[in-house]
Amino acid sequence: MPGRHFLQIPGPTNVPDRVLRAMDRPVPDHRGAELPALVSEVTAGLKQVFQTASGEIALFPASGTGGWEASLVNTLNPGERVLAFNLGQFSHLYAECARGLGAVVDEVDVPWGSGVPADVVHERLRSDRGHAYAAVLVVHNETSTGVTSNVRAVREAIDAAGHPALLLVDTVSSLASIDFRFDEWKVDVALAGTQKGLMLPPGMAVVCVGPRALARGEDVRSPRYFFDWRPVLAEMQRGYFPYTPATLMLYGLREAVRMLAEEGLPNVFARHGRLAEGVRRAVRAWGLSIVCRNPQEYSNTLTAVMMPDGIDADGVLRMAAQRLDLSLGTGLGRLQSRAFRIGHLGALNELEVLATVAGVEMALTMAGVRIPLGAGVTACQKFFLEEQLVPVSQPPGQGRIT
Ligand SMILES: Cc1ncc(COP(=O)(O)O)c(C=O)c1O
Repeated sequence: MPGRHFLQIPGPTNVPDRVLRAMDRPVPDHRGAELPALVSEVTAGLKQVFQTASGEIALFPASGTGGWEASLVNTLNPGERVLAFNLGQFSHLYAECARGLGAVVDEVDVPWGSGVPADVVHERLRSDRGHAYAAVLVVHNETSTGVTSNVRAVREAIDAAGHPALLLVDTVSSLASIDFRFDEWKVDVALAGTQKGLMLPPGMAVVCVGPRALARGEDVRSPRYFFDWRPVLAEMQRGYFPYTPATLMLYGLREAVRMLAEEGLPNVFARHGRLAEGVRRAVRAWGLSIVCRNPQEYSNTLTAVMMPDGIDADGVLRMAAQRLDLSLGTGLGRLQSRAFRIGHLGALNELEVLATVAGVEMALTMAGVRIPLGAGVTACQKFFLEEQLVPVSQPPGQGRIT
């Protein structure tokens, strides 16, 4: 089909031309002289994205799942207890990953469509007088439901309980799109992949390790090798890796962090908020409901849309793909066939969102959902016209990676 494929799943996202061009080069010698400067700029840029001065960056040729494993094998002894929440497919799988690695997982069931209940974190930890919990696992943005949890509140709950558990946060579908503050929220480990807000192809896990987690990593006795972050952190200090790195991805990542610094993180977050609200207005104009229950927890990177009874969400996806060359996200886990997801993150602008909304309207109609054709596009257009985007101007010296 001529024209470009509309990849509006909640990751992988569209890779901007600048990033593609940065990767379009001969493969360098990964032990050569050009690596240290590249690694140093990538690391500095990622620290800015995580909003950390205290965290260290470890990169693995992997995906978000590898990030999960790295966060767990370096912080938990086999048989240790962790607190996790089942509020969507990815929070459940993070818990499963911990279980698979030998942890004892208390997986608290939360209605899908809600975020991590900070009061439950507080309760559980306060009653854990022996400090059996070694870590609390949180998915910042649950990609299956489109819910963003309040990580700051979780941190406050842990502190209020006076509990030493580490706070491990999956930022796979929030990093570089939704405000995430590693230092301010005293997160101990955060992990992401390259294929969402970082605007790269899939292929790398990005892990940010705080001082307490670093110390813990020296002590734990879990079997680990590839995902042992100690050799990775040590080698990256020198500008190299203990494995053969995904060198071309590193060039792309350098370009991506430059782009994020140029736009300025506050503007990146505001853009995502604005595009997301445009999509939500469209969904309401169709008379359909959003899976996320609490507007305070609306995700700015994706919207999961519930289907009316009797409509198979996968039918909508099929129409979108076959007729319009538009990829939307399928319903996952408990939401399979009942909901579909619109991704609105990464390198994206208003016109692309409007085209996506127009495509969703057509796909819904073709799949037999009775919606007022054009209503979503109009609602989205009106919002974009009425709500002026006021960019945050960058203080002098910012916009560069320091
Ligand atoms: C929140 C979240 N965590 C973890 C993962 C797993 O990451 P990956 O598929 O890159 O292994 C995903 C994938 O979409 C995700 O959205």
